Amino acid sequence: MKEKSLLLIKPDAVRNKHIGHIITILEENDFHFCALKLFRFDRELAENFYAEHRGKDFYENLLNFMMSDFTVAIIVQKENAVQELRDLIGDVNPAIRKPGTIRYLYAEGITENAVHASDSVISAKREIGIIFKTEDTERKD
Ligand code: CDP
Ligand code: MG
Repeated sequence: MKEKSLLLIKPDAVRNKHIGHIITILEENDFHFCALKLFRFDRELAENFYAEHRGKDFYENLLNFMMSDFTVAIIVQKENAVQELRDLIGDVNPAIRKPGTIRYLYAEGITENAVHASDSVISAKREIGIIFKTEDTERKD
């Protein structure tokens, strides 16, 4: 089934000029793009987006990182997009990231890890709603 997922190119990867490299990887892996934007998280938006992590020891550090520079958000579409994109970004734990994954290539650490991808179809819907709010994100073709 064709699914949508949300990919974020996080502030470290934007700063390090990896937007183009990461978009190329998505294209090479046959993800179609439904919508794309460049924006900067403020605290309210970051708290909403990462609500599930509120109270964890890394939470404040994560929020500060996400607010530190611009982010690129891309709605992607493909068969099994959620799982395929999770596989393509690689694990949050640097010790077990597979070579060839986006985080293996471009992450700087555990927090500054280059990209985000939704972890379920329900999360994808929620996250797309938070980042794209009122925009029309349907492809007509
Ligand atoms: O991003 P992902 O879904 O793979 O991992 P997560 O466990 O949902 O964590 C969300 C984000 O919090 C990660 O991508 C990291 O940027 C950050 N994090 C962190 O700074 N320290 C940790 N121990 C775990 C996550
Ligand atoms: Mg997560």
